[in-house]
Amino acid sequence: MIDMVRRGRRRWWKASLAAGAAALIAGTTLAAASPADAASTLGASAAAKGRYFGAAIAAGRLGDSTYTRILTTEFNAVTPENEMKWDATEPSQGTFTYTNGDRILNQGLSNGSKVRGHTLLWHAQQPGWAQSLSGTALRNAAINHVTQVASHYRGKIYAWDVVNEAFADGGSGGRRDSNLQRTGNDWIEAAFRAARTADPGAKLCYNDYNTDGVNAKSTGVLNMVKDFKARGVPIDCVGFQSHLGTGIPGDYQANLQRFADAGVDVQITELDVAQASNQANIYAAVTNACLAVSRCTGITVWGIRDSDSWRTGENPLLFDNSGNKKAAYTAVLNALNAGTGGGTSPVDTSAWYVLVNRNSGKAVDVYNLVTTDGARITQWTRNNGNQQQWQFVDSGGGYYRLKSRLSGKVLDVYNKSTADGGAIVQWTDNNGTNQQFSIQDIDGYIQLINRNSGKAMEVQGASTADGGNIVQYADWNGTNQQWQLSKVG
Ligand code: XIL
Repeated sequence: MIDMVRRGRRRWWKASLAAGAAALIAGTTLAAASPADAASTLGASAAAKGRYFGAAIAAGRLGDSTYTRILTTEFNAVTPENEMKWDATEPSQGTFTYTNGDRILNQGLSNGSKVRGHTLLWHAQQPGWAQSLSGTALRNAAINHVTQVASHYRGKIYAWDVVNEAFADGGSGGRRDSNLQRTGNDWIEAAFRAARTADPGAKLCYNDYNTDGVNAKSTGVLNMVKDFKARGVPIDCVGFQSHLGTGIPGDYQANLQRFADAGVDVQITELDVAQASNQANIYAAVTNACLAVSRCTGITVWGIRDSDSWRTGENPLLFDNSGNKKAAYTAVLNALNAGTGGGTSPVDTSAWYVLVNRNSGKAVDVYNLVTTDGARITQWTRNNGNQQQWQFVDSGGGYYRLKSRLSGKVLDVYNKSTADGGAIVQWTDNNGTNQQFSIQDIDGYIQLINRNSGKAMEVQGASTADGGNIVQYADWNGTNQQWQLSKVG
């Protein structure tokens, strides 16, 4: 059943990518979608713009058929509202409970959705035992928590909110006081490093509220991001909760953009808007802002129906208590369908990416830094070196070569083999069909299908070892055939 759902999604993606490619071949620039080709759900419409549209969901509501109908129809990303928080996953020290977190995960994966992990460390919703710890004991417990939980979900999570709400409100731009902060200012970077080690394929985000416009708090977060980037602390994204009242900061988009310019993806992670006459307009403004920022990868609303919301009485969501679409829903869908943001290319051809294998967590690597034709390509522990950085070069028609930053050569199915197990090497770029790959999306990971052979690039034998060979093999949807793109330059 799961496979059928996934296969169905993949065909849909292939069709949509092909349509985009056709538009490019015809030389047309993408204009606003006409009603005839406008998508009719939030997820499909966002996907057509290269983005996701998600909802926070609660394991306890999955038995509600109206809820799950809307969830599976409209959304292509999920966040556990509470089920992956510290009090839920480690209720007593060293004892981990993943039952409800796994329910959310499986709901998302079986529906072909991205899963955002929320959240590894936060000052709130800590288990009692952690609240009573301090100093080294707390620091060690916190880092162990990050390692254990991120390891449990390794390879399954699109993005983790590694740290939530660590900055103070008001004008200081500094950290919030908390038991975690009192273990030392480096607790956040320690958490990010532990998360990267535990799950190298997940995007690692910092998430906060009241950072939705340019203000002292968001500037403090931005300065942390720049500092992390400068010192090589792994951070890939910043989440903007966007629990909005009856207004939206005028510099909302500009604020997202300044984070994107600092080299991180941005995501709207917990959107809800107090119900008033302008609710629909505010929802549309947030959607338009995300579409206008190329590194804004998606939007998540914090619940499905008003009756599911944590903001009781404010009716801040897109569906009413009965599951009917509100004006705010229509405003978001129209904004998504009208938007030109994102184009049709699934990749940024000006960027350099590390390709992380979903099964092994290791990166595609030019073995031993060789720069000659025929050098073998293997997987290796991710180190972000030039031998692990790849640029997508557009061959047209939805096909791309992958150029090594180290050697300038491209991935090539050796000798134009069409056999299972055919080696993938690097070779001088001649734009041959054995050097071209189409890109297909599965749950936020990609598959690379060779144009000449029709086979998928994979880690041979699902190896998890350094030096495991990269070869082609018939596409069977294996996790060793799936890659997460991590933009590094
Ligand atoms: C909220 C949940 O929605 C509630 O069910 C729970 O009682 C408290 O937490 N910022 C966050 C979210 O990062 O985790 C919070 O979720 C809302 C504020």
